[in-house]
Amino acid sequence: MCGIIGYLGYRKAMPILLEGLFAQEYRGYDSAGVAVLEDGTLRVEHSVGKIALLEQKIGDNIGEGVIGIGHTRWATHGRPTEDNCHPHTDCHGNIAVVHNGIIENYLELREWLQNQGHTFTSQTDTEVLPHLLEELYQTDLYQAMSDAVARLRGAYACVAVSSFDPRRLVAARKDSPLVIGVGEGEYFLASDIAALIRYTRNVIILENGDIAVVDDHGIKITNQGQPVQRKMVYVDWDKEAAEKAGFPHFMLKEIHEQPAVMAKTMRGRISDDLEQVLLPEMDAAFSDEFLKGVNKLVIVACGTSYHAGLVAKQSIERLLRLPVEVDIASEYRYRKPLVDEHALVVVVSQSGETADTLAALRESQYNGAKVIAICNVMDSSIAREADCVLYTWAGVEIAVASTKAYVTQLMLLYMLTFYLGQRLQILSGDYLHHLLQELDELPDKIAAQLPTIEETTREWAEYIKDYDDAFFIGRGLDHSVALEGALKLKEISYIHAEAYAAGELKHGTIALIEPGIPVIALATQQFLLEKSISNIVELKARDAHIFGIAFEQTQSMAKVTDGCIYLPQTDDLLAPIITVVPLQLLAYYAADYRGCEIDQPRNLAKSVTVE
Ligand code: AGP
Repeated sequence: MCGIIGYLGYRKAMPILLEGLFAQEYRGYDSAGVAVLEDGTLRVEHSVGKIALLEQKIGDNIGEGVIGIGHTRWATHGRPTEDNCHPHTDCHGNIAVVHNGIIENYLELREWLQNQGHTFTSQTDTEVLPHLLEELYQTDLYQAMSDAVARLRGAYACVAVSSFDPRRLVAARKDSPLVIGVGEGEYFLASDIAALIRYTRNVIILENGDIAVVDDHGIKITNQGQPVQRKMVYVDWDKEAAEKAGFPHFMLKEIHEQPAVMAKTMRGRISDDLEQVLLPEMDAAFSDEFLKGVNKLVIVACGTSYHAGLVAKQSIERLLRLPVEVDIASEYRYRKPLVDEHALVVVVSQSGETADTLAALRESQYNGAKVIAICNVMDSSIAREADCVLYTWAGVEIAVASTKAYVTQLMLLYMLTFYLGQRLQILSGDYLHHLLQELDELPDKIAAQLPTIEETTREWAEYIKDYDDAFFIGRGLDHSVALEGALKLKEISYIHAEAYAAGELKHGTIALIEPGIPVIALATQQFLLEKSISNIVELKARDAHIFGIAFEQTQSMAKVTDGCIYLPQTDDLLAPIITVVPLQLLAYYAADYRGCEIDQPRNLAKSVTVE
């Protein structure tokens, strides 16, 4: 996945392009480039590494050009070298293109173009695009783009600029996001709204198959050769949302935003008397008859979103006694899943653009199942294709490590569980009221406890930072959260971490326990407490250093741990929403002590739009 920006207007393009790239750096940051039309000629600048290096290279030489395109790359086809940087150009440097996605038939197109005499300078799939445009161009860049995309297989969001058509940008979209920002006498194209809200809040979201021409006459959009109208939406995100608000990293800012976004995710979805869950999207999408006929739920997602699914499996099976399968999207899509019209599939994705999750959604629908999407990004590909979308309303999540999106996914999965329990008349009124009350109180409880949790996890992180390995253990719901805690620690601090079901350790992994090794032990589930404590004692006997996480009523943890965080009490079923917070902070401070690039960990990107 990569970030695209385009500008056409009256201001100097170079600074706008660079700003647009900085705002999308989380989408990929192993090389970047820009192409600006200056005096009828394309000036192309590339740099390997972060966007700051490109900015440095350009220095004060921002030029006078008022139209251009830019790109920040996360390498897929071809290593992150200067030759492989976008924008790519045709043989004569008259056409430049930036592209996000994968052109699956690029090898065959490349061979054909080479036979036509084109010379390639990179290993990327993207480079076929400018050469194809050059080959097909007669008098009109739009027509060349239409003819070019007709020959492509795969996913693309692309923008082209050409010295042949100097006051025009042409863009195309299929399975990769692209939006147009509409200003006063100026236009912006971007993969992400965050890249342009500084300049305009009026945005057009392109749909699959759209080709857009932006020039001094305005915007023209066609789909399959026919003119189409796409509605302009007003984006009311505040500018602060895309900035760090005084925190040293986006990740820390986003952890602190959790109480607010949890409350936002519940807003309007729980009745004032805390008696009912209101999900009108579900009412509209599914009849009682259909829901009664559902024989299993299947939750499919990747990474952190998959971990949210694991929590939901336990709560749904516990409350509704309905079988739930949870699958990793990249596995599910290729294993001929056993789903049909009686299965209800839930795909979970912060970005709504994860290629494997999108493919899982399509595979499910192909097999006749209905799909609910739990997404954070409005109008993302997954949101558009699902039969019903429930938005998490976590706001823009910029840090690569997902935090606030995860807790809002949990909130929404719990609300979906309660909704099904209520609609299928499985949950009693009193119990539902109790759960909704607990859920409603969680944001305030977390906000009140955050400073203490932060202080303690910072101390723990100082211990953990010097270790190469750490273990996370828990039973039941605690195990699902332990998996998320281990992922967080791995992805941002590069400490090897593993999460185990506490009762499973003695079947092999306990052999790895050495004196001093850090073990984070979660013990929030009262009905499993004695068992969990026995497992902790087994590790303590081997001199592991135990950091405990339990509810405030479980003071017995003090005797078996080297330190324990006591969380405000809530129903055991809802524990994951609260237990994950110290785990996120622990990972954050461990990474900080180790001097890691927290918001942009190595080898990772925010949304994985390729397989
Ligand atoms: C989380 O910290 C990760 N960076 C990653 O596992 C992420 O959750 C995964 O790629 C799924 O993304 P999605 O929710 O946007 O589909």
